[in-house]
Amino acid sequence: MRKSNRVKQSGRVKRPRAMNRPASGGNGAAKGNGTVILTEELKKYYFLGAETVQAVRGVDMVVQRGEFLAIMGPSGSGKSTFMNLIGCLDTPTGGDYWLNGRKVSELSDDQLARVRNRDIGFVFQTFNLLPRASSLHNVELPLIYAGVSARERRRRACEKLELVGLGDRMDHKPPELSGGQRQRVAIARALVNDPALLLADEPTGNLDSVTSREIVAILTALNQAGQTIVLVTHEPDIAAAASRQVHLNDGLVERDFANLEART
Ligand SMILES: Nc1ncnc2c1ncn2[C@@H]1O[C@H](COP(=O)(O)OP(=O)(O)OP(=O)(O)O)[C@@H](O)[C@H]1O
Ligand SMILES: [Mg+2]
Repeated sequence: MRKSNRVKQSGRVKRPRAMNRPASGGNGAAKGNGTVILTEELKKYYFLGAETVQAVRGVDMVVQRGEFLAIMGPSGSGKSTFMNLIGCLDTPTGGDYWLNGRKVSELSDDQLARVRNRDIGFVFQTFNLLPRASSLHNVELPLIYAGVSARERRRRACEKLELVGLGDRMDHKPPELSGGQRQRVAIARALVNDPALLLADEPTGNLDSVTSREIVAILTALNQAGQTIVLVTHEPDIAAAASRQVHLNDGLVERDFANLEART
């Protein structure tokens, strides 16, 4: 427990010392250095009648801009719960979280919605695309919520679909695409607002090994261009692409180490 870094409950927010640490690992040159994620004693408990499930029990983590982090750990160790917390999809039971230097618990509902839309891109195992909408429309969706004009939406969605190699599949609907192509649409959608943080919870969990490698190659290329990525995976082959691995066990960080052989 790092009590010395606690933040005042009210008044001016004191930045924890870790915010000022130099960047470590990754190659964030393209987007500059800085801390994207900082958690202190982050906790999530679920209260189910008489039973309490302690899914995340106090995680301290710092992720610098440009890092590519793989979170691993047994089923039920709290990986998805932690991802949902750092993706601002869920509220912690305790502890603190700063995203890009802003304390998430102090954001208003409007600010939080904006952060979810603009600062975070989320990729899920099950793609979560609209089945009756084209690739282009699926990728444009976050821009519609962000109030971007139709012309600009189209331009940006096309650019991201080209980036993931789907320039020739813009009018296809998800049922007309392979699993790997669907996940690439989901990655393009996650990237369309140029988020500071790309989160992917088992993005290759529903894909065969060849297709999984294609998705990892895309994520690696994005990271090499400066994108900060946090990925959950069960597969050591996939985690090997990341510059750092964090292993969770029973809601706590068990190991956290740099992978010096990533991206050879
Ligand atoms: N909404 C919920 N209500 C109650 N308990 C939950 C809820 N979501 C998760 N849990 C519990 O919290 C713990 C952590 O779950 P979580 O989904 O984070 O694990 P995980 O590491 O992502 O596992 P997997 O590898 O199987 O996806 C588990 O014991 C799970 O049963
Ligand atoms: Mg999970």
